[in-house]
Amino acid sequence: MKKHVLIGISGGIAAYKSLTLIRSFVKNDYEVKVVATDHALEFVTPLTIETLSGNKLYNNMFQTGQERTTEHIALAQWADVFVVAPATANIIGKYAHGLADDALSTTLLAYKKILFMAPAMNDAMWDNEAVQANLKILQNRGVKILEPGSGFLACNSEGKGRMMEPEKIFEAIDNYLCGKNSGLRALVSAGGTQEPIDAVRYIGNRSSGLMGFCLAESLAQKGVQVDLISGPTSLTTHHPLIHRIDVQTAADMLQACQMVASQVDIIIMAAAVADYTPEHAVDYKVKKTDATWQIHLKPTEDILKTLSLHRANDRQIVVGFALETNDEKENAIKKLKTKQLDMIVLNSLNDKGAGFSTSTNKVLLIDKNEQVIDIPLQSKQAVAEEIVSQILKKINHHE
Ligand code: CTP
Repeated sequence: MKKHVLIGISGGIAAYKSLTLIRSFVKNDYEVKVVATDHALEFVTPLTIETLSGNKLYNNMFQTGQERTTEHIALAQWADVFVVAPATANIIGKYAHGLADDALSTTLLAYKKILFMAPAMNDAMWDNEAVQANLKILQNRGVKILEPGSGFLACNSEGKGRMMEPEKIFEAIDNYLCGKNSGLRALVSAGGTQEPIDAVRYIGNRSSGLMGFCLAESLAQKGVQVDLISGPTSLTTHHPLIHRIDVQTAADMLQACQMVASQVDIIIMAAAVADYTPEHAVDYKVKKTDATWQIHLKPTEDILKTLSLHRANDRQIVVGFALETNDEKENAIKKLKTKQLDMIVLNSLNDKGAGFSTSTNKVLLIDKNEQVIDIPLQSKQAVAEEIVSQILKKINHHE
């Protein structure tokens, strides 16, 4: 039997992309019905929606001569899954506060099953505190928010607020419903750690966390449940399959990783973990003097190595990163061997557009048989998708 998807369209320019979304579901054998706001119909016509979906559009609650006047209840019961795309700040706000004054908002309140929302709005509106608070309310109630932009903040810092591409929305919902890769779990570490010197100072590094967040997002897109263990960063993520754990120091990160490592199938250490930490941090602010200040550093534990050498089972895939400036490939292979990894992702700081503080990357992916895949310069999201597809290939083919 065909699955029933109800698509809610609210009034944003991204409404034109909802037409592609309707097509994706129809093409993949879903039965599609659409409920749209009046403002949505300023952007797309009822005729297009009805032609593509093959069903009557629901928009006017008070139309006379209809079969029934409780269409919103019937539709809510008919749907196996409901996705609002685009979801404007207005519909997000209305739904968060239980308001119902048109066909879409009323159907939303009558609906009880799994709900996805794909927000779309200008980046200033997205950043607005009220909008973010409303999104939190919805997330806490179990609504699956499909992160705008290229999947999460800053991948495309210009365009935060752009609706997730319709193909990706389809994929996220289809993966969710079909349970593809479901059951698979991953641990991804991201960002740089901060090692306190005193109450206000710390030793840090220039990692933005973006690569790790992109990896988490790509895995979640494929239906994998992710524990994202992140050093301090301003990046955000709303993907329903990502559980985020924030840490500060290398020792915190080690502890958090060890808590989840035995339960996951995939471990990706993308974090820039401090290799050294002050031997004696103090909990007050050290006063300035004219003398030099020597800080003694002690090595931190290599989290990647620890997790890799103590795997929960031999099916677990462990992937490390290497950031090199000289003899890159040789050094990366050395790390791959000594840490007994399945794969290593080599970033070269010598490459333009690669490494820290950029939104692009260019890497070599080397597996334990020393097979090398060259991933050319592109957005970190695209690089992450390629890495993830290689990892899933290994898992699914039991290589
Ligand atoms: N890593 C880790 N724990 C540490 C240091 C690094 O888990 N205390 C992980 C990183 O997350 C990364 C990999 O080890 O996946 C490689 O980090 P990198 O700094 O390139 O290499 P190191 O082994 O630390 O060696 P070096 O700094 O000398 O190159």
